[in-house]
Amino acid sequence: MYLLWFLQSIVLVGMGKSCSPKPSDVLNNTCIESREKIPLYIGGMMAVTVGWDGSGCLIAAELALEHINNRNDILPEYDLKMYWNDTQCLASKPLRALYDQVVVSDKQKIVLLGPACSGGAELVSETSQYWNLITVLYSALSPSLADRIKYPYVYRTVPIASNSFISPMLWLIKNYGWRRVGSISQSAPSFAAAQQNFVQRASKVNVSVVAEVITDEVKNQVENLKRLDMRIIHLTVRETNARKIFCEGNKIGLSGPDIVWFLPAWYSEKWWLVKDKTVDCSVEEMAEIVETSLILGVDVAVISRRNKTTVAGIVSINTVTYFQTPQEFLDEIKKRLLWPQYRNYTINNYISYSYDAVWTIALMLNRSSKLLKERRFGKRLEDFSYTDDDMRNLFFEEMATTDFFGTSGGGEGISLPNVY
Ligand SMILES: *[C@@H]1O[C@H](CO)[C@@H](O)[C@H](O)[C@H]1NC(C)=O
Ligand SMILES: *[C@@H]1O[C@H](CO)[C@@H](O)[C@H](O)[C@H]1NC(C)=O
Ligand SMILES: *[C@@H]1O[C@H](CO)[C@@H](O)[C@H](O)[C@H]1NC(C)=O
Ligand SMILES: *[C@@H]1O[C@H](CO)[C@@H](O)[C@H](O)[C@H]1NC(C)=O
Ligand SMILES: *[C@@H]1O[C@H](CO)[C@@H](O)[C@H](O)[C@H]1NC(C)=O
Ligand SMILES: *[C@@H]1O[C@H](CO)[C@@H](O)[C@H](O)[C@H]1NC(C)=O
Repeated sequence: MYLLWFLQSIVLVGMGKSCSPKPSDVLNNTCIESREKIPLYIGGMMAVTVGWDGSGCLIAAELALEHINNRNDILPEYDLKMYWNDTQCLASKPLRALYDQVVVSDKQKIVLLGPACSGGAELVSETSQYWNLITVLYSALSPSLADRIKYPYVYRTVPIASNSFISPMLWLIKNYGWRRVGSISQSAPSFAAAQQNFVQRASKVNVSVVAEVITDEVKNQVENLKRLDMRIIHLTVRETNARKIFCEGNKIGLSGPDIVWFLPAWYSEKWWLVKDKTVDCSVEEMAEIVETSLILGVDVAVISRRNKTTVAGIVSINTVTYFQTPQEFLDEIKKRLLWPQYRNYTINNYISYSYDAVWTIALMLNRSSKLLKERRFGKRLEDFSYTDDDMRNLFFEEMATTDFFGTSGGGEGISLPNVY
């Protein structure tokens, strides 16, 4: 049985009414044609092909840009664009893309959006600060990115994994009276940090955790958990490692109806059947463990379950009344999946965070633009450069006024499981 356990996350989504270029509007200048506008570039880093399919986040970001550019009450003099790279879900690719975007490209970027996955996000945000680029993350969950010394200009729309996923897991573990949990993470700092968080929080509620860390091989760690008779197994690993662990678990009998697995639900659909040459098990063997054990995938909810515009700490967005419901946003994304340029793209649970991230950037720029006019010496948004500490400070302050980074972010509620 494979269940998907959703968190009730507080997400803010919506759709802007489009500014239809009616002749009357153009006459009285309420709908400025985009060709008259000054372009501003967001440097996008999206995972489309390898590691994690975050392609839906690109659709959502482009939808947000469309909504923003069609309105005349936000950045009316500008055309907000995104120059993006498929940085995949690898740690190294985004650094190369950062170089391409900042050094090679002649388009001045004003803020970065992404990378999608924590490993790359760590490398990029540690580096992008030297170009005064604020890095807005929409799907990187690692608690290590909360380190303000190492990553001073990171802003996240997505809740931190440690805060939002651990509570419902522990709630469940306590409710069933489970006392001992085995946990496997991989050695990358982002995964290890999530595991440490889990161990600490668990010990506070008297749940003891045997924590294992894998590198390339998983055999010893899986055998150890089996030897200690662990029945509840918590995984914070990438999909390919989860396949290795399941394969090994099936071989040595760490499987069956008395085993419960907790793992991230952002893996691809039917991830245990995905062809993987590092895994030495047949499709039948992989299917067997999934069919016999109880597996709980933990993730953020794809959209807020509330049928209304929610706050999420973004105060200024709340005052804008044009947002419609999260469901309408999801319907629109589903429609766009059929567009030819989005062929093979899929929806994932982070689309609303991506949409919100672009809005957060736009609202920050909109406010900064006003402040620049009021208090700086004739500088405008388009004068930003990679050496402009002052403007970066202004941007970050304005971002911080809408900051929900320090708060619990997504809600910690737990909703009924959806059968996967
Ligand atoms: C100006 O724009 C507003 C808002 O779109 C519209 O209602 C109004 O009719 C326009 N006025 C003229 C004179 O075209
Ligand atoms: C953008 O800024 C202008 C003034 O600077 C303000 O009137 C407008 O409400 C802002 N737009 C949004 C969507 O907050
Ligand atoms: C990023 O995109 C630009 C423009 O499409 C391309 O020239 C460059 O090679 C890309 N870089 C990477 C690392 O994919
Ligand atoms: C944990 O165990 C200790 C000692 O048995 C007990 O005093 C404490 O109340 C327990 N805490 C929780 C949260 O169950
Ligand atoms: C959402 O709320 C609106 C107005 O309150 C209502 O008309 C609509 O039926 C609701 N939709 C769902 C899916 O509950
Ligand atoms: C879509 O996926 C199919 C099968 O995986 C592949 O053959 C095709 O080239 C892909 N199309 C695009 C546009 O990427």
